[in-house]
Amino acid sequence: MTGWHIRPGSPGDRELLASFACADPAVRWQAEVEQFIQAQLTDWAFDPHADAGDPRLLLAFTAAGDLFGVAAHERVILQAGAGPGFPATKLEVVGVALKWQGRSFPTGERASDVLMSAVMTDVSSRVPPRDARVYAIVHEDNHRSLAVCRRHGLTEEMSRPHPSYRRIVTPHKEQ
Ligand SMILES: CC(C)(COP(=O)(O)OP(=O)(O)OC[C@H]1O[C@@H](n2cnc3c(N)ncnc32)[C@H](O)[C@@H]1OP(=O)(O)O)[C@@H](O)C(=O)NCCC(=O)NCCS
Repeated sequence: MTGWHIRPGSPGDRELLASFACADPAVRWQAEVEQFIQAQLTDWAFDPHADAGDPRLLLAFTAAGDLFGVAAHERVILQAGAGPGFPATKLEVVGVALKWQGRSFPTGERASDVLMSAVMTDVSSRVPPRDARVYAIVHEDNHRSLAVCRRHGLTEEMSRPHPSYRRIVTPHKEQ
């Protein structure tokens, strides 16, 4: 089986997401991500008061229709010094289904890379642009997530939002 299909989520995906498993339940920082995807992500993405944040939900399916990845991102304003701030993107969540973690498609692309590439493409095609900087907050022990993010350009480090969590970011891109 080859190929995949990525589409934006819709409110009707609530049930599909309720059974999306991407965590080892014994690992709190993984379970938190899964819990958010299962129980809150559609509310987050389709909150009528969140328009300014341009929230985006993406679902990745295999050609056979198996949901293998879920990701979400939103617009934020990043403050650099005393300036007015500029539009950037926060990766809210990225999850690969348990059965697809560590796996690649027959063409060689890793499932995680297919998902992250789709996310980064979606970010750069938003109007107005918000790919000047793209960041994620990741638990410091989440080596797989840190590795995937690094492969997709989140190579710099900002201040930590919490002692156990890192904030990793793409280098600044001129608009
Ligand atoms: C984070 C996630 C998307 C990564 O996808 P994946 O398919 O599991 O990971 P990959 O196959 O891309 O592997 C990523 C890297 O971690 C490495 N890796 C795999 N298992 C590892 C382990 N137990 N410890 C350290 N590194 C590991 C892989 O070798 C690879 O390294 P490389 O880039 O140097 O080759 C996925 O694990 C996931 O959904 N996790 C739960 C949810 C989560 O934590 N999301 C991120 C926070 S929003």
